[in-house]
Amino acid sequence: MISPAHTRIEPGILYFGTPVVLISTSNEDGTPNLAPMSSAFWLGWRAVLGLGARSKTAQNMLRTGECVLNLPSDSLAGAVDRLALTTGSDPVPVFKQERGYRHVQDKFGRAGLTPAPAETVEAPLVAECPVVMEAVVEAVHPIAEDDGAQRGSIVAIEVRVQRVGVHDDIRTAGTTDRIDPDAWRPLIMSFQQLYGLGSQVRPSTLASIPERLYRGPDIERARTARHRRS
Ligand SMILES: Cc1cc2nc3c(=O)[nH]c(=O)nc-3n(C[C@H](O)[C@H](O)[C@H](O)COP(=O)(O)O)c2cc1C
Repeated sequence: MISPAHTRIEPGILYFGTPVVLISTSNEDGTPNLAPMSSAFWLGWRAVLGLGARSKTAQNMLRTGECVLNLPSDSLAGAVDRLALTTGSDPVPVFKQERGYRHVQDKFGRAGLTPAPAETVEAPLVAECPVVMEAVVEAVHPIAEDDGAQRGSIVAIEVRVQRVGVHDDIRTAGTTDRIDPDAWRPLIMSFQQLYGLGSQVRPSTLASIPERLYRGPDIERARTARHRRS
């Protein structure tokens, strides 16, 4: 015991529950790749994405400097699960082969999801995802550099969002720029399993801060991002 209330354990993973993100990127030949991930957190209009450095997604992001972050709702759990154990990498890296991964060229087809053109990046949006965010890479932070066995295998990629698009049915009625948290039903990955959210547990004190006070300079900057087709 590490306290009277706790038992010491050594779980293999520490994935206590985060929303799933489907990252779309462009391959060398211009075809799209699409991969589920969930080690993501958000700060203003920035996200930090924890990715295997040898994943096709990380390689595409580092080469092109861009991606789309598509957030699936819990109703898209089947599509996300069809992408599990697949990679856009060919050949499949040995450590993934050992875990049962196989190469899939057409990830959109495999998932049954529809690509739609983005405004500011080459990679397509996922039409079925209620939230889509076009983003550019701003920094790459190596993870576990201190350990020779892990060095070079994981990266945290910092991206800056420059377009946000949502399905109208998750917007708060009567507002232009707000999401209704009762309507937005993210898909959550917890210890490799897929969940939805329960209902609100209590009113939040943090929500007494007006949302407009969070608006940072990246929002103004996003308006200058060039539309690729104009
Ligand atoms: C629900 C879910 C969450 C995942 N989360 C992550 C993650 O946070 N980081 C990561 O590197 N891989 C994660 N993976 C595994 C990647 O999807 C996997 O490495 C995949 O092969 C990447 O595809 P790519 O090689 O085509 O980029 C997750 C997979 C699933 C199904």
